[in-house]
Amino acid sequence: MFGMLKNNYPYYLANEAVYANESLDVTDKYSGAIATKVALADEAAIDQAIEAAVKSQEALRVMAPYERQDILNHCVQRFTERFDELAMALCIEAGKPIKDARGEVSRLIDTFRIAAEESVRMGGEIMNLEVAPRARGYSGMYKRVPIGPCSFISPFNFPLNLAAHKVAPALAVGCPFVLKPASRTPIGALIIGEVLAETDLPKGAFSILPCSRNGADLFTVDDRLKLLSFTGSPDVGWDLKSRAGKKPVILELGGNAACIVDEDTDDLEDAIERIIFGAFYQSGQSCIGVQRIMVHDALYDEFKSRFVEQVKHLKMGDPKDEDTFVGPMISLSEANRLKGWVDEALTMGGVLLAGGSQDGAMLEATVLESVPENAQLVTEEAFGPVVVLSKFSDFDQALKSVNESKFGLQAGIFTRDLYKMNKAWDELDVGGVVIGDVPSWRVDNMPYGGVKDSGVGREGIRFAMEDMTEIRLLVIRDKHRK
Ligand code: SIN
Repeated sequence: MFGMLKNNYPYYLANEAVYANESLDVTDKYSGAIATKVALADEAAIDQAIEAAVKSQEALRVMAPYERQDILNHCVQRFTERFDELAMALCIEAGKPIKDARGEVSRLIDTFRIAAEESVRMGGEIMNLEVAPRARGYSGMYKRVPIGPCSFISPFNFPLNLAAHKVAPALAVGCPFVLKPASRTPIGALIIGEVLAETDLPKGAFSILPCSRNGADLFTVDDRLKLLSFTGSPDVGWDLKSRAGKKPVILELGGNAACIVDEDTDDLEDAIERIIFGAFYQSGQSCIGVQRIMVHDALYDEFKSRFVEQVKHLKMGDPKDEDTFVGPMISLSEANRLKGWVDEALTMGGVLLAGGSQDGAMLEATVLESVPENAQLVTEEAFGPVVVLSKFSDFDQALKSVNESKFGLQAGIFTRDLYKMNKAWDELDVGGVVIGDVPSWRVDNMPYGGVKDSGVGREGIRFAMEDMTEIRLLVIRDKHRK
């Protein structure tokens, strides 16, 4: 069953595969069986990796952009050749339905392709500095230089593509890195490591180190690392930021994304189809998964009956099955946590319209309405296949409700009204507003990130490349200037 996976995966320390004594079991998230083992890095290995990254800086700095582009293009080619294996690895280690897994592999390839393109584009600017008499004869220009060794921590929900959003821009600008993949889903990142090990990147340019808590703190606190980029849960992210010392920190955290369906929505079927995708694909385990659905009064009843009917027919089961839409959540404890929130919402007066049952890590696609505003299902990040429906009569009020959240990642609005679009873009306190689609929509070159508890900074190759570089200015005085 696990034919496409190896029995053992090494970690990568200073570009080299290491089979350590200690290992970590990686389970098939649907069956619970042990699918494979990965080598576990200890504190000494992490320390060595950081030292090697520091030492590799000079060799990376002198690489020409076209050489870095060649490495990124090699990855594009190898991921394309290994497409099915990568998709099956995701399907097994994350329990991601195979269609979603293929979608993620396509995005992995996009991310590296975009980085390959951007790697030869990053320039600077020539500046007029003659802004006052004392600056007469001065001109300036700046370029961007790599910030230095980077620390990356990636999450379980997109084991390939969210690691790629850190790795690919780092390679594009010439930053060495150490990456800690999520312990429950390390295989995707290790296959990226296997492909990088085929290249002639300078020794020390990359290390990919699954690890337990033992030593993992170095990823956060070590001063040799000049940037920390973390994607994961808000509690963990903000804690890391408080312990990261002087290094800048990029946090891509959670959300409880809202989607508004306004009265002028002319194609309800399309809106329903998109919202079902946005809410339930990969069992809702996306930071921009639809969680709060706000539908205009005039459409509410029709939306509700058609939406609920379709949700009831979503196929749930083995993620390896081509027809499966809803697979397992990442763990039993996560499914228990979310089921607990559903039960709490029902006790508080919420009404169950679909789903609600749990079988181990499998939680049915679940829809509720009349859930009080202070229920965890509304205020917190569900990160699972559960949505809350509510109705509104006033668009401005709906915008306010979207903002009544401690999170602010993306929001989706089905409207055809240009003025409402602009108002939403102006007033929503989020990182991105998506018109005519769900907040869950993302393509990999767009600036992506949140405000409030959803994080700081933006990913989306070019934006991450900016974070991974410093501006270095050159000032020129022309003393002969008349
Ligand atoms: C996330 O869960 O933060 C990423 C969503 C995506 O890349 O589609």
